Amino acid sequence: MSKYALEIKSLNHTFGSYPILNDIDLQVLPGQIVAMVGPSGCGKSTLLKAILGTHPPTSGEILTDGLPVQGPNRNVGIVYQNYALYDFLTAEQNVSFGLKLDETSFLMRVLAIRKYLAKRKEHQAKAADFLHRVGLGNACGKYPNEMSGGMKQRVAVAQAFIMRPKIVLLDEPFGALDEAMREDLQIMLLKFYQENLLAKKEGRVPQYTILMVTHELNEAIYVADRVIGLSRFHTDGDRGATIVYDRPCPVFSPEDPRDFSKFIEQRDELRKAVFDDKYIKDRDKYVTFWKELSSLANNVAAIESAQPTDTE
Ligand SMILES: Nc1ncnc2c1ncn2[C@@H]1O[C@H](COP(=O)(O)OP(=O)(O)OP(=O)(O)O)[C@@H](O)[C@H]1O
Ligand SMILES: [Mg+2]
Repeated sequence: MSKYALEIKSLNHTFGSYPILNDIDLQVLPGQIVAMVGPSGCGKSTLLKAILGTHPPTSGEILTDGLPVQGPNRNVGIVYQNYALYDFLTAEQNVSFGLKLDETSFLMRVLAIRKYLAKRKEHQAKAADFLHRVGLGNACGKYPNEMSGGMKQRVAVAQAFIMRPKIVLLDEPFGALDEAMREDLQIMLLKFYQENLLAKKEGRVPQYTILMVTHELNEAIYVADRVIGLSRFHTDGDRGATIVYDRPCPVFSPEDPRDFSKFIEQRDELRKAVFDDKYIKDRDKYVTFWKELSSLANNVAAIESAQPTDTE
C-alpha cells in the first residue's frame, strides 16, 4: 500500500490552446477529507475528471494508492451534484448494483445458482450496512421517487463507497439541496471522519478518503481537515489555474456546535488568496499543508480528548 491515497505530479491541462490547469502537485493521505474551492470555471471539475480517468491530462501523472490512473478504475469513485440513481431499483439494490456487476454474472446465475444466491445475500447485507452508515438504515426498500434529494445523495455516496475505492471525488455534492439537508449531509461527512480516526487508532486503514469540490467556504472548512484553493490569478490566468492555497483546517466532531466564528480568519484568508485577483501573486505563500501537518495532528488530538465520555 502506498503512503498516499492520491498523488498528482506536475499536471497540466489545456483545451485546444487554452490553458486550464497549470503545474498541479498534490498528495492526499488515506483518511483525509480535502475540500477544494476556486472561482467558477477555473478547472475544478476538469481536475476531478482527470483523477477519475475519464479525461486524461495533457501532461503529468496521477497515482491512486501508488498506481497510475490510465482510465476509469476501481480506485476512484465519484458523486455529482445530481447523481442519477436507477429509478427501478430500491436504495439497497442501487447500492449493491456495483458489487453485483463486479462479482456475479449471468452464467453464474444459471450454472451456480447457490453460489449466486449466497453472493446476493452478501451484497444485500453490505448494502444495508452502508445505508445504515449514511443514516438510511430504514430506507433500504425505498425507490428513488420515494426519497428526498438528500436521501438520494446519501444513496449515491453509499454507492460510491461500497466499492472500496481509495478515494471518492465529490463535485459540489450538496449544491442542489436545501440548507437543512445540506447540514445533515455535512454531519454525515463528520461522522465518516470520526470513523477514520477510530480506524487509525485501531491500526486499520481508514475507509473514507475524500476530495470534495464546494463553492461554500464555510462548508469547506467545516467538513474537511484540509482545504485547497485553485486559482488562475497567480499569473493573471495566462498559464491556467494552480493550487495557491493548501492548509489544514479545524476538525469538528458531529456533536460540536456549528460555530463558524471559530474559523472566520481562515475563511477570510482563503477568500482573499483564492478569489481576489488583487490580493495574491505569490502562489506558494499559503501552500503550507505539509509544513503544518503537525498542527493538524494536534488539532485532531485536542478534539479526541474533548469527546464526551459515557460517564459525562
Ligand atoms: N470539454 C471541454 N472543451 C473545452 N473547454 C472545456 C471543456 N470542459 C470544460 N471546459 C472549459 O474549461 C474551464 C474549466 O471548466 P471546469 O468545468 O473544470 O470548471 P469548474 O472550476 O469546475 O467550474 P464550476 O465551478 O463552474 O463548476 C472552463 O473555462 C470551461 O469552459
Ligand atoms: Mg465544476
